[in-house]
Amino acid sequence: MYAVDIGASPGGWSDYLATVHGCPVLAIDPGVVSCRSPLVRHVPKLLQESFGDVRAFAAEAAEAGRGGLGLLVCDMNVRPLEAASLIRTLCEAAPLAPDAALILTCKETQAGRSKALVAEAVAELSDWWTDFRSLHLLSNGKERTLIAHVLQASPERRAELRAERAAAAAEAKRAWEQKVLTTPSPAERNKEKMERKAKSKATKNQAAAGDAAAPSSSPQADAVAAAAAEPAVA
Ligand SMILES: C[S@@+](CC[C@H](N)C(=O)[O-])C[C@H]1O[C@@H](n2cnc3c(N)ncnc32)[C@H](O)[C@@H]1O
Repeated sequence: MYAVDIGASPGGWSDYLATVHGCPVLAIDPGVVSCRSPLVRHVPKLLQESFGDVRAFAAEAAEAGRGGLGLLVCDMNVRPLEAASLIRTLCEAAPLAPDAALILTCKETQAGRSKALVAEAVAELSDWWTDFRSLHLLSNGKERTLIAHVLQASPERRAELRAERAAAAAEAKRAWEQKVLTTPSPAERNKEKMERKAKSKATKNQAAAGDAAAPSSSPQADAVAAAAAEPAVA
């Protein structure tokens, strides 16, 4: 299986694929890739500058009877949507094997938005990939790992799917934005709490001042007060 490792430095994925699975690997990253296996070929460039290299590698895979690229692994530290968009361009540039798979690590680039970010990436990829699974692996932390298989479809079907998924992703984004707009921020919640406290304190103070000024309503207290005020009659 011919694999492309996108965002490969320092070489963890490439090393694993070459040494454990015997895959020829095209490792794309401007950073250092230190793998000893001769199966790993490093392209020291960004993915957007490497489509020619990927095309040549895929042609080699096709010549070797593999039908094209068998596996795309992507761990670039960029927004999931940006990674997905670059992967789409790669799919248009180089043939994929009929059973090709994709493993994309979706980085959580905005706190609490990982699901929406994954949905955006899925929408972007859905005309080339199918059977999406979004996993939270032990090694993931705040990331999510998106797994998919290549979609066998006509160009027309690809266009339809792309439109459907984009609409679903837009709806998910709208729902998230609505939630953000209607949920008070911690600062707003704190301000509301302080205002409630101040109001309650003012009400208590007012009540206390009223009690002190008000005449006594108890007959016994009135009698005691009267006795204290009037001199005793002999
Ligand atoms: C988390 S590291 C990858 C770790 C690697 N997968 C491993 O297993 O050792 C992310 C890498 O993405 C690379 N990167 C970011 N944007 C890129 C791009 N547009 N094209 C290629 N690589 C990119 C960075 O240079 C960085 O080395």
